[in-house]
Amino acid sequence: MTSPEVAPEILRFYAETVDEADRLTTTADGWLELLRTQELLRRHLPGPPARVLDVGGGPGVHARWLVADGYTVHLVDPVARHVDQAKDTGATVELGDARALTAADASYDVVLVLGPLYHLLDRADRDRALAEAYRVLKPGGLLATAGINRYASLFEHAAFAHLHQEPMRTSIGGILATQIHDGEKAFTAAYFHSGGQLRDEVAEAGFAQAEVFGVEGPAWSMLAAAERNTGESFRDTELFRSALAAARMAEPYPELLAASSHLLAIGRRPG
Ligand SMILES: C[S@@+](CC[C@H](N)C(=O)[O-])C[C@H]1O[C@@H](n2cnc3c(N)ncnc32)[C@H](O)[C@@H]1O
Repeated sequence: MTSPEVAPEILRFYAETVDEADRLTTTADGWLELLRTQELLRRHLPGPPARVLDVGGGPGVHARWLVADGYTVHLVDPVARHVDQAKDTGATVELGDARALTAADASYDVVLVLGPLYHLLDRADRDRALAEAYRVLKPGGLLATAGINRYASLFEHAAFAHLHQEPMRTSIGGILATQIHDGEKAFTAAYFHSGGQLRDEVAEAGFAQAEVFGVEGPAWSMLAAAERNTGESFRDTELFRSALAAARMAEPYPELLAASSHLLAIGRRPG
């Protein structure tokens, strides 16, 4: 198999433009993503000890709490800076790509793919990443994979008071129509899923009981805008607690998947 290449702009974005190590802990909407991802994962994970492969694990924010919960975690990421940052999480780490894992067949109880799917713009590449997750999972093992919501930029830029102006309106309209973020501003090259598309990709890769959850619910963009407008942290506020409650209340209603910034799909390798 030829070794796949990660787009240079994606590597550059994480190596030079942002520090991914801070994203989930310094902003209120990041904190909401972390707490909700944690609670959704803990609901589905087998009890520790179990072997977890964290593909696209970045600097290891999830690896750290998974190790603390008693799991044995191996993290794979293509960004050297992330692999370096993840070394002190208690996980073992490896530079690598979701489309060509070095792990043996049927060697993990859980595979997390929280990031790679939205950075793989072609369906064939996302299928390859999901096929690799399937291959390395034990029969009956759990896949959890994240997507960014197709509609997230609409909510975010409405809350930031950007959409009455050009060129922002055309730019966000383009993302809604094409599902592609071109990586010119704010974020790097990415594909944005609808909930139904993410569920179909997981099911078509052979995973059973494919299900998609909204991570942040309907109020994350309000938190992001409140922080942006005041310059203050909203992590410990009534607005934060209300947004967290809203995310939990929205969870049973599939129509509200579209309101979250991130989607979390769960599936199982048939046993
Ligand atoms: C936004 S970060 C998410 C990090 C972490 N998993 C989380 O959920 O907070 C996206 C991650 O996907 C990684 N990534 C991008 N393309 C990838 C690929 N082809 N294979 C594996 N990881 C990839 C990036 O290096 C980055 O660490």
